[in-house]
Amino acid sequence: MRAVLLDGYGGAERLRVAQVADAAAPRRGQVRVRVHAASLNPIDWKVCAGYFPLIPGQRMPMIPGSDCSGVVDAVGDGVTDLKSGDAVFGLISGGCGHTFAEFVTASAKRFVRKPDNVSHAEAASVVLVGVTVLEALARIITLRAGQRLFISGGAGGVGSFAVQYARSVGARVLASAGAANLEFVHALGAQEVYDYAGGDLAAQLNGLDVIFDAFGELDARRYLACLKPGGAFISTGSGGRTMHALAQRYGKHLWLFGALVDVLRLSWQARRQERRRVAMVFGQPRPEHLAHIAQLLASGAVKAQIAQVYPLDDIARALGDAQTGHARGKRVIELANG
Ligand SMILES: NC(=O)c1ccc[n+]([C@@H]2O[C@H](COP(=O)([O-])OP(=O)(O)OC[C@H]3O[C@@H](n4cnc5c(N)ncnc54)[C@H](OP(=O)(O)O)[C@@H]3O)[C@@H](O)[C@H]2O)c1
Repeated sequence: MRAVLLDGYGGAERLRVAQVADAAAPRRGQVRVRVHAASLNPIDWKVCAGYFPLIPGQRMPMIPGSDCSGVVDAVGDGVTDLKSGDAVFGLISGGCGHTFAEFVTASAKRFVRKPDNVSHAEAASVVLVGVTVLEALARIITLRAGQRLFISGGAGGVGSFAVQYARSVGARVLASAGAANLEFVHALGAQEVYDYAGGDLAAQLNGLDVIFDAFGELDARRYLACLKPGGAFISTGSGGRTMHALAQRYGKHLWLFGALVDVLRLSWQARRQERRRVAMVFGQPRPEHLAHIAQLLASGAVKAQIAQVYPLDDIARALGDAQTGHARGKRVIELANG
């Protein structure tokens, strides 16, 4: 099969497209999926650059990729809810899911049936970002109708899903974006939009129930005062600049540990400030999140926002674009039509 190979930690220059051995036949509980589309997520370039060495599955040369949409091609023993020919989408593992390939083999629990009303590219584009939003807003907290929520980075992969999800539960949505994306975020459903470069946002916001820092670099200490008593600040916590700064302080292998220590310390301080909460979200491929995403797509409550589709051979360009940290929805690699 054709696949993207990472020869060693580094940037796009360490990637090549090559002919490799076919994905393994599925073992008990697994399925093999013919990948039609896979999305680009910031974790992909971060894993390629060596910032997450502890995630399993990084023997070089490795096939990067996190999530995908495709068609089940073979089914292992014990799999009862999927069969060959089913169109599915799923998340295998952040950055180490080996989805930038024509076939991938993984646990059947990582996949759910794709709704008919969306293409493979559309389904692939919402998986990792969708589970992250649902982990934050439907599991760490339960966002409710009428609550005031501020989302930073409303135009990106995580943010564009979050804006739509929050509106679908009836929350009042405020969101930030770069000047060029304000109209896009408004059209997604944000009732108030703010240019993140347009002055001190923390000084302009107040009375919020929830802050969801999809961008992942807001200074929580400053933004806590924008929350009502009992409000929650939840961050994806790993924006590029924050990650580089932490890597310099703690080392490239331990920066995430440093980030968690910072969050725990802040969380303890915030509890003492009128029971405010601070948390870092880790998007996880829980079957209930995958089923929830399928339902949101099927009902049209969330629509995939695709910025650009690349052929497999353009992986280096796609990864470089993903690394800019600016987006209008998602970038997707297409491996087969449909
Ligand atoms: N913890 C987890 O489980 C988890 C899961 C998914 C993602 N993440 C992390 O979350 C972050 C966002 O992911 P993504 O997929 O949404 O990335 P993305 O698609 O590249 O989007 C990045 C967003 O950040 C916005 N942004 C850039 N500079 C900003 C600033 N100064 N203030 C506010 N917003 C700014 C961009 O806005 P404009 O395009 O309008 O400039 C864009 O909306 C990444 O660091 C990613 O690694 C973590």
